[in-house]
Amino acid sequence: MSLLNKKVVVFGYGSQGHAHALNLKDSGYNVSVALREDSRSCEKARKDGFEVLNLEKAAKVADVAMLLVPDENQPELYREYLKDGLKKGAFLGFAHGFNIHYSQIDPREDLNVFMVAPKSPGHKVRDKFLEKEGVPALISVYQDPSKETLQLAKDWAKGVCLNLGVLETTFKEETETDLFGEQAVLCGGLVELMKAGYETLLNAGYDEKLAYFECVHEMKLIVDLIYSKGFAAMRESISNTAEYGDYVTGKKIITKESRENMREVLEDIQNGKFAKDFILEGQAGYPILKTMRKRCRDEKIEIVGNELREMMFKK
Ligand SMILES: NC(=O)c1ccc[n+]([C@@H]2O[C@H](COP(=O)([O-])OP(=O)(O)OC[C@H]3O[C@@H](n4cnc5c(N)ncnc54)[C@H](OP(=O)(O)O)[C@@H]3O)[C@@H](O)[C@H]2O)c1
Repeated sequence: MSLLNKKVVVFGYGSQGHAHALNLKDSGYNVSVALREDSRSCEKARKDGFEVLNLEKAAKVADVAMLLVPDENQPELYREYLKDGLKKGAFLGFAHGFNIHYSQIDPREDLNVFMVAPKSPGHKVRDKFLEKEGVPALISVYQDPSKETLQLAKDWAKGVCLNLGVLETTFKEETETDLFGEQAVLCGGLVELMKAGYETLLNAGYDEKLAYFECVHEMKLIVDLIYSKGFAAMRESISNTAEYGDYVTGKKIITKESRENMREVLEDIQNGKFAKDFILEGQAGYPILKTMRKRCRDEKIEIVGNELREMMFKK
């Protein structure tokens, strides 16, 4: 079983949606996009050359339906359009295991349910495809009445991510590690680390632009070295002074207490508390997300960063 000759429908045309749809189209597959009729994304999808279907029609014609709308909107989309609308034996795909793992979607038994989760933000999935490099992806099969779902997931991963590195996992493992990584390290942990460093220098009277260069801007240069060559090669590239400081100071920052906090974060992901809080946040109209977005946009560190980017990157 392959994706070829199948009617593929990507639901949503946002970060992941545009990347999956465009990469699959460029890989030679028959792809349409499904959106709400008043969606702001319709125009972009049409401009990019896609047939845009309404949700009801899309559910009926799809051989493969990939859910690339926000996690918190997927259960309603499934209940309203896909549960009764999808063909018998159709394939239902996800790019994150959240709704299956936390039982927010209970798929019909005849559906073949798979996941292809690129380990990358959507816009990088597209950029790296265009550079013919690709990104790694996790794949998994949750339900497989056809016995052909794994092959289809592999085709999808190759068509979107170019087989840079495809690992098989479970919905549970992908969901829990993904949530932990983004909260404790990649987004939550990293941003707070950079801000704490910046504010320490600022509070001690140092120049705000220097503080930004040291604690935020240079992060990318170090991470790029780790990304391409690993920790040892990064340390070969920095000075002995920096390397010595790295060994003697890192553990003073990430203390036993920080590690204990990480363990608690993981526990809340494993026991469903984080998922429940996030689902309630969505149902309440996102009070925390909206407040924090405003507050963070107005913070001094963002203003300084914008000024520096203006200086560095203006043509
Ligand atoms: N963002 C990432 O880089 C990333 C990485 C790995 C995995 N994932 C996973 O990929 C999935 C999609 O995430 P995303 O960040 O790409 O989403 P997103 O960018 O927020 O999705 C927005 C798109 O979904 C549409 N949409 C929203 N609600 C809809 C609904 N009820 N019915 C139909 N269309 C709707 C929006 O159209 P409108 O104009 O109508 O609002 C827009 O086209 C999630 O499962 C996420 O966990 C994301």
